[in-house]
Amino acid sequence: MEFTIKSTRPEKLKAGVIVAGVFAEGRLPAAASALDAASDGRLSAAIARGDLEEKAGALLVLHDLPGVTAPRVLLVSLGPQDGFSEKAWRDAVGAAARWLSGSAAQDAGFTLASLAVPGRDTAWTFAQSARLLQDATYRYDTTRSRKDDKAAQRGARSIALLAEDKHDAALKLAAERGQAIAEGMALSRELANLPANFCTPTHLADTALKLGKHYKFKVEVLERKDTEKLGMGAFLAVARGSHQPPKFIVMEYRGGKAKDKPVVLVGKGITFDTGGISLKPAPEMDEMKYDMCGAASVLGTFRAIAEMQLPINVVGLIPATENMPGGGATKPGDVVTSMSGQTIEILNTDAEGRLILCDALTYAERFDPACVIDIATLTGAVIIALGKIPTGLMANDDDLARELLDCGNRAADRAWQLPLWDDYQDLLKSNFADMGNIGGKTAGSITAACFLSRFTKAYKWAHLDIAGTAWVSGEAKGATGRPVPLLCEFLIGRAR
Ligand code: BES
Ligand code: MN
Ligand code: ZN
Repeated sequence: MEFTIKSTRPEKLKAGVIVAGVFAEGRLPAAASALDAASDGRLSAAIARGDLEEKAGALLVLHDLPGVTAPRVLLVSLGPQDGFSEKAWRDAVGAAARWLSGSAAQDAGFTLASLAVPGRDTAWTFAQSARLLQDATYRYDTTRSRKDDKAAQRGARSIALLAEDKHDAALKLAAERGQAIAEGMALSRELANLPANFCTPTHLADTALKLGKHYKFKVEVLERKDTEKLGMGAFLAVARGSHQPPKFIVMEYRGGKAKDKPVVLVGKGITFDTGGISLKPAPEMDEMKYDMCGAASVLGTFRAIAEMQLPINVVGLIPATENMPGGGATKPGDVVTSMSGQTIEILNTDAEGRLILCDALTYAERFDPACVIDIATLTGAVIIALGKIPTGLMANDDDLARELLDCGNRAADRAWQLPLWDDYQDLLKSNFADMGNIGGKTAGSITAACFLSRFTKAYKWAHLDIAGTAWVSGEAKGATGRPVPLLCEFLIGRAR
């Protein structure tokens, strides 16, 4: 998709469709008002007839309005003007973006980026508009035999974002970044949606190598032998039950100064989680192909920051393996030695994410990181605690936690913090090793983070539990691309 910024008056813009927002009650915003005046009141007449529903995101297409150059006008409801919110604006932009992605119009004029959204500036509305418009073009069809060619031909390819000043460099940068973030999300979504018989650890490694080659950053893939030499006993314990070779992926994007300490991102890359010998129940087990969404978000973020050419150093670490109940699989009660030297009693082989992450977190020490952020579909418990709205955040540093919460807010990809108090650590006691890999029945997300915290003493660290936010279930089943926007916002903030 191609974005431009134009200051043409909406009624004069040459495009297949012009998109304008209207309030359910209240005055017409500037763009709609201009279209209404040019067409002798046709907009207000259609609205007065009640053809546009009040709910934010409701749509109405008007054709061939007199005095308007574009043959279509797409009206989008913004909900009532009284109480207009960021959520209403996002609902409206999201609905318009979906409509545009399937429309016969090849190009569009988009006026919603110039609407005043409470608490946000125009750079924000431009970045979010570009991101939402680009993100709506993502379609999954990789493993369908009949590609939907008709649908592929539809959709606006070129979008003019209407602004007061078409030369505004800040708006241009915002739109470019919004688009780059959506492209990172698309990579993340595609890898996540790809079934586990396609998206293997080897496929993740190949994807990283391709990205590195394209954007010219360093990628190294450690094989099973290499991880054995490093003493990654916890990571290897998870890989034992699978026929797929495990991969430990190391990516180094060096956009900053040589002496700048890197931000290290660690992504959980379980390409399928059966639970291992502690086998999961059958219903919805297919969704465990999404257990590599942490890894996918790291790869997506690397694509986005490389596309943006951010001046910052970032290291990406992805321990990738299946969690299978093969004949060689780890058994409940087995004790393994992690790379840190600490021993772990594996009481439940389904608590495998923390086992692959702990060795990656130890490996991270060698980069002398500014901070480390791990991203993982780690616990079902985080969905019980927070639902599917925010990502769960835990950290050993309050400033880092606050920074990430703020970035989530700004990126409309929110996180919410849970406590990581020492009081919870006792739950990990083991009679046969330095620790068990599970706590009790309570506070499952926190005890998982407590486990990880034992491997992060050397640096500032935050943990994002994305089990609730990385994909949606049900009829619209699919990956969301979260938390690529949050991570990009964080790195943009750190790059300055
Ligand atoms: N990948 C799962 C977490 C998960 C479950 C994510 C459901 C999304 C939906 C993880 O490996 C896991 O199985 N966690 C266990 C931990 C338990 C055994 C302590 C869980 O959450 O049940
Ligand atoms: Mn599991
Ligand atoms: Zn898992």
